Amino acid sequence: MILNEWRRHNVERHKINVRLDESVATTQPAARSYTVHVGDTILQDIGGLLKTDCVQRAVIVSDQSVNATHAKTVAEALQDAAITIDQLTIPSGEASKSLAEAERLWNEFARLKIDRKTAILAVGGGVIGDLTGFVAATFSRGLDFWQVPTTLVAQVDSAIGGKTGVNLPAGKNLVGAFWQPRGVVADISTLTTLPDREYVSGLAEVVKYGMILDTDFFHWLEDNALRVRDREKRSVAHIVRRSAELKTLVVERDEREITGLRACLNYGHTFAHAFETATGYGTLLHGEAVSLGMMAAASLACSLNRIDQLVVDRQQKLLETLGLPVSTTTLNGIEDNDLLGIMSQDKKNIGGKLRFILPSAIGEVETVDNVCHEFVISAINKLCRDA
Ligand code: NAD
Ligand code: GLY
Repeated sequence: MILNEWRRHNVERHKINVRLDESVATTQPAARSYTVHVGDTILQDIGGLLKTDCVQRAVIVSDQSVNATHAKTVAEALQDAAITIDQLTIPSGEASKSLAEAERLWNEFARLKIDRKTAILAVGGGVIGDLTGFVAATFSRGLDFWQVPTTLVAQVDSAIGGKTGVNLPAGKNLVGAFWQPRGVVADISTLTTLPDREYVSGLAEVVKYGMILDTDFFHWLEDNALRVRDREKRSVAHIVRRSAELKTLVVERDEREITGLRACLNYGHTFAHAFETATGYGTLLHGEAVSLGMMAAASLACSLNRIDQLVVDRQQKLLETLGLPVSTTTLNGIEDNDLLGIMSQDKKNIGGKLRFILPSAIGEVETVDNVCHEFVISAINKLCRDA
């Protein structure tokens, strides 16, 4: 990545409005609709945004990787806007999305005498956003919080839509709350410091949007895969903006995952969450697990005669070109029944019966119930056999 090259091309700023039903009963302190700001070098403007929201005091929660960089930029921007700040840091990585870290943050919030007028800012990746959002949702029965995503996963997915929570040893995201942020500031320049493995991991969620909702976006990704892989700035801006728009579209129509529409965002995730849980949180990055999960879901759909092999092959080629895994050795030695047991805890299931989001074409998915366990295991074994 040549930074000067990155700096030369300005990209447009975009405001994506997330319009939510304001009559939904919640203890959310203010209106729940909000704006997702996408742009290049926009962290500097965050003081002005919070001032418009009448914020006078804020607490920034970040992790060790962004503390001295992006969280510092945010802190300076808030200070320039005369907002009083405190900063809290948690260890980097998936293991921090835990009840232990949530408890530590609750205690820190109590020590800092945070009240309902204090804004909480989550500056970091999906781990920081999910954990901080959950702590904001539960402390004093709910505080306003802002998402300032600094990973690709967080900018294209986790910062938008209000799903917050922590993991339990029994499964991912098993404890949590729907708690919408007051706003999202996705500054694509923060991605220049992101390690390559983390950036590529985020691309799995981007491919997901093409597979579930937008055939044209999938084609665009096929045509521009190498530019995206090389982090060409305009391409990065495009994938962040289009993904944020698609996520918004879904969240506005099914905020609480009631109609089944929002469940489509879980394409590949029933497998992925089981892989992450079974291999120990942090072994596979979330997006790597999602890439494998989408391959298993597509191969399951193919064996159920729901799609042609061609669809599986196109998804595989795109994931591979982007540098994502389509097979793995990390599941070797893990019992089939252990994976099925974890999958049976998935929040989409009803009455303990496995429920999958499966493709019916590129750009279209359906919810499929009562899938025979043998087909599920065979789809997982294929990932291991091809490794
Ligand atoms: P992460 O938060 O662990 O971040 C990945 C790594 O990058 C960490 O080590 C972090 O410290 C570091 N980092 C963050 N920003 C950086 C930057 N700009 N430069 C350098 N390093 C940086 O992981 P993630 O991939 O962002 O998110 C994964 C989590 O998000 C999972 O827990 C997943 O379940 C969750 N998630 C939630 C939703 C949702 O809707 N709430 C959606 C998708 C994923
Ligand atoms: N990432 C899944 C969802 O937001 O529903």
